[in-house]
Amino acid sequence: MKDNIKGSNIFRHFKAEVKDNIELNKNHFLLTLSPLVENIMMPAGGQFYMLGVSTLYDPLMKRPFSVFRFSENRIQILYRVRGKGTAIMSRINSGCVLDVIGPLGNSYPMPPKKYTPLIVAGGIGIASLFSLIHCLKDKSVVIYGAKTKSELCMLDDLLGLVSGLTVCTDDGSYGKKATVLEALNDIAYDRDYLLYSCGPKEMLRKLAQFTLKKGLKGYISLEETMACGLGACLGCAVKTKNGYKRVCKEGTVFPIQDIAW
Ligand SMILES: Cc1cc2nc3c(=O)[nH]c(=O)nc-3n(C[C@H](O)[C@H](O)[C@H](O)COP(=O)(O)OP(=O)(O)OC[C@H]3O[C@@H](n4cnc5c(N)ncnc54)[C@H](O)[C@@H]3O)c2cc1C
Ligand code: FES
Repeated sequence: MKDNIKGSNIFRHFKAEVKDNIELNKNHFLLTLSPLVENIMMPAGGQFYMLGVSTLYDPLMKRPFSVFRFSENRIQILYRVRGKGTAIMSRINSGCVLDVIGPLGNSYPMPPKKYTPLIVAGGIGIASLFSLIHCLKDKSVVIYGAKTKSELCMLDDLLGLVSGLTVCTDDGSYGKKATVLEALNDIAYDRDYLLYSCGPKEMLRKLAQFTLKKGLKGYISLEETMACGLGACLGCAVKTKNGYKRVCKEGTVFPIQDIAW
């Protein structure tokens, strides 16, 4: 199978008004932005935006966020509060105007016909995979896992999209008591699956070992700490079997077996 990951060098720097910033559950928010420019580019599944979370100079750097959903010129970002920037973001009210750059990075390639997409989301990794799930709907098998129930997001939307959805939590507080890796073991590998995944790095590393063992192919989206998001600072470089690659520019999506873990 040839890799058909598409990248794009076309992005825009624009202002966007906050329409909503809803707290979904502990530490998770859904931000809706309305770009204050005409005809913004439609992002592809897996692409991201750099968001200026403060109008002050602290934090100075923009933060990267996946496009959770894009419709009728509204950009939705699903995010988890991690540190200073996202804590500031969680307090932003409707009407505020943010600085945005994007869409950036490459995107998840669509699966060739003979493959069944097997989508594995760990925690907030669901934000990056949601638009792919939306696009593939019932053509895909989806595993979504988090540590505990309060870290699961947008479950009703997901249940309405895919019938083949397994939800699991490490502590068993919702769905199957299992990690996504354990849930993967329960799948009957009786057809050609193509894996798509985003989540914590350790999960992706174990997933790479799993795919090697099972002879599966697939793609992962990496979430490295980013400074520029534009390919200039080299801060997001990761080691691949073909040398170092910038996650913001040559990624974020890579064939899973290309990464030198
Ligand atoms: C391409 C891309 C898409 C992303 N999409 C989303 C998304 O849709 N929703 C979401 O909630 N998060 C997403 N992230 C992660 C998000 O960018 C970080 O959580 C955010 O930058 C943290 O900023 P902060 O100021 O709150 O935390 P900081 O104070 O900067 O850091 C807090 C902690 O988070 C770690 N951290 C910082 N940046 C990242 C990062 N990029 N990835 C992993 N750990 C990080 C730091 O090492 C530190 O431990 C994405 C990251 C990338 C690279
Ligand atoms: S974040 Fe600067 S090169 Fe990727």
